[in-house]
Amino acid sequence: MFCRDGAGPCNVATPACGPAGGRQDVNLSHAVLSAPLLNPVFANRPTTIFAVMSALARRHGAVNLGQGFPDEDGPPGLVEAAVRALRSGQNQYAPVQGVPELRRAVAASNRRFYDLDIDWETETLITAGATAALGAAFLAFLKPGDEAILLAPCYDSYAPIVEAAGATPRFVQLQPPAWRMDQAALEAAITPRTRVIAINSPHNPTGRALSHEELQAVADIAVRRDLLVICDEVYEHLIFDGRPHIPLMTLPGMRERCVRIGSAGKTFSMTGWRIGYATGCERLITGMMKAHQFIVYTCPPHLQLAVAEGLAFGDEYYSSFISTMQMKRDHFVAGLTDLGFDVLPCEGTYFATVDIRSVGGKDDDDFCRDLTENAGVAAIPVSAFYPPSDPNTPRNYARFCFCKKIDVLDEALRRLRSHFKSAPPARDAQ
Ligand SMILES: Cc1ncc(COP(=O)(O)O)c(C=O)c1O
Repeated sequence: MFCRDGAGPCNVATPACGPAGGRQDVNLSHAVLSAPLLNPVFANRPTTIFAVMSALARRHGAVNLGQGFPDEDGPPGLVEAAVRALRSGQNQYAPVQGVPELRRAVAASNRRFYDLDIDWETETLITAGATAALGAAFLAFLKPGDEAILLAPCYDSYAPIVEAAGATPRFVQLQPPAWRMDQAALEAAITPRTRVIAINSPHNPTGRALSHEELQAVADIAVRRDLLVICDEVYEHLIFDGRPHIPLMTLPGMRERCVRIGSAGKTFSMTGWRIGYATGCERLITGMMKAHQFIVYTCPPHLQLAVAEGLAFGDEYYSSFISTMQMKRDHFVAGLTDLGFDVLPCEGTYFATVDIRSVGGKDDDDFCRDLTENAGVAAIPVSAFYPPSDPNTPRNYARFCFCKKIDVLDEALRRLRSHFKSAPPARDAQ
């Protein structure tokens, strides 16, 4: 048994978990570096909250519902396909844009799910996970002095890459608890220096899917102010209750202005494979490729070939993926609600957000640390998805990840029940 991103297949993180791989393998005591030789954009940022909470979960043997990764691998057929490709000699550099099989599959799935007509040769790019696609997009679309609009809360990789490009992130807050995008606030944040808006739907950490009306507002502003839009759609196949996923790219005027970013890690529950894909017009995709080639160059060909097979899976794969995750959502949300948590609606992703005041919490960071140490369940404070030291950051939300086996979710609920029974929530603290 080994640890994967801090908790590993074992879910319950123990101090004895083997050598830590990936992000948690950091020296947390040196979380902030101030060495003058290092780039402050990265050196002055603390270790990500995911690594911190996973390390804490390991130390306290907590059920790790913090970091977002499934505790079961995706379809075994994909592993077999990757093995076949390895054995058939797919072991050298792949083409810089990605293997043709996967680029064709990406274009075909755009047609199949969204009726988007994509030229696989010029309008697709395979990247090292969606993270590298996002990085390549910010680096390709921004120059020093530019500004990028980010909707807070947002995935933690956006702002550092914007800054590394020499640009400035301007944050527009999604207002809790509905987390709707305020068109006037978006409009007000745009300056003559703005080049890019980044959106994410379905949205991590809130679980919201942007409505058609909100997408239309983004489209209108992008056209009127001549902006590009980076669309983080890694949870495109995790949207619940029969809602359709609407890519911004399908709205009039958007085909030439946005790139759509997907993740095999999310769609096939293989987060360690690091295969992402971007779709967009040739000019934007070529720009991204030129940035990606100097950081990542190319991605492992055997994994690309396997993902190509996955994208071509029949409808039953996609519908069962959604229905299984929806069942886990319903089960876990019902359990939390039963314990007195105020759980916000989750329309997509695999995250449930709770208002911690419903169980006596005051500060989300303290709450999540206390829950990990004393209840044995790790969660992520939502304030970590905001720019540091923003006085408007809400501090009363925590995010639980529910893409875990049912018995793991039940164990987490059992621990929470016994924790709150022995230390009843101070409801008057609301
Ligand atoms: C909103 C969002 N974007 C991008 C990513 C990165 O995806 P990948 O693992 O494919 O790099 C994640 C991963 O959690 C995410 O939640």
